[in-house]
Amino acid sequence: MWKYTWIPIILTIISLQTSFTKPESTIHYSPTVMKSTCPSPDPTLNHRPIIGIVSHPGDGASGRLSNATNASYIAASYVKFVESAGARVIPLIYNEPITNLQAKLSLVNGVLFTGGWSKSGLYFDVIEGIFKQVLKKNDEGEHFPLLAICLGFELLTMIISKNNNILEDFSASDQASTLQFMRNINLEETLFQRFPPELIAKLSTECLVMQNHKYGISPETFQGNTELCSFFKILTTSADQNGKVYVSTVQSESYPVTAVQWHPEKNAFEWGSSEIPHSDDAIQVTQHVANFFVSEARKSLNRPPAEQVLANLIYNYSPTYCGTAGKGFDEVYIFSETETIARL
Ligand SMILES: *[C@@H]1O[C@H](CO)[C@@H](O)[C@H](O)[C@H]1NC(C)=O
Ligand SMILES: *[C@@H]1O[C@H](CO)[C@@H](O)[C@H](O)[C@H]1NC(C)=O
Repeated sequence: MWKYTWIPIILTIISLQTSFTKPESTIHYSPTVMKSTCPSPDPTLNHRPIIGIVSHPGDGASGRLSNATNASYIAASYVKFVESAGARVIPLIYNEPITNLQAKLSLVNGVLFTGGWSKSGLYFDVIEGIFKQVLKKNDEGEHFPLLAICLGFELLTMIISKNNNILEDFSASDQASTLQFMRNINLEETLFQRFPPELIAKLSTECLVMQNHKYGISPETFQGNTELCSFFKILTTSADQNGKVYVSTVQSESYPVTAVQWHPEKNAFEWGSSEIPHSDDAIQVTQHVANFFVSEARKSLNRPPAEQVLANLIYNYSPTYCGTAGKGFDEVYIFSETETIARL
């Protein structure tokens, strides 16, 4: 047995030697050609983008993981979504002192608002404050993107319309849906810009996006509100379980601000509900949205000190697995205020 296994190895060595010696007579390697000539990446972009994700009140598991009144959480799916496109995450813990939040906001190249249920109090105020900072950074010439998902979409709707009662009831809990594109819509410079045309077509006929919300806004209400219409362009609508239509994707024309009522992160990274689409096409939806958002963040030229970034990255925390009870998220990062004060 051993005797024979040597034969192919010896043969390989012989053939390698001949193939190395043969071309020497014909090809001349000059030292300059031998040097690595990979061009440096586009210097006008930031290839080490950092995304701030705002934590949401609670433990993400109805008290099964933590009952601390000051606990807040980020579902790990949002973190994986951002990381999968080539960025790192700094958690923006909503109830930490405002000076800490400000300091962390200066370390990131874009912000993500997650899903959840909280629409009032400190959480609302913090989301509104960060949204205003996002606009300010862009007004001052820094490209600073914001992606608002589900609750994030609803909060932006309330904040921009200056009407906390603008949302309507919808039955779209735990429902996969289609996306219906508005007529004659230009998808350049929107989160759909990198989607292949076949996938765009499938989005309107196959249920490739996950919805999980009880509130929303109808296209009529949206279009009837001057503030909302002048800030956002409607890209898609979707229908709830009763066929009632709501706005599902919006994009600002003046700011790199995108809001989706659906959950791009769930297709690839959450398994708690059997309704979540996990097909090849559905996973591509997750990937294209993540790639779009992080490519926007690469345009931010904010280059904060590396040590401060490292000290605040989400890698300083560990996610907790909470999938066995079969409800909600598979993994969550839980933050309590005392822990975070020590960090900055
Ligand atoms: C939180 O409180 C509930 C209700 O009292 C209890 O069932 C649960 O075990 C508590 N969670 C933890 C992590 O202690
Ligand atoms: C947060 O809650 C924990 C337990 O509920 C408590 O020990 C801690 O002091 C609280 N932190 C702050 C800053 O309120």
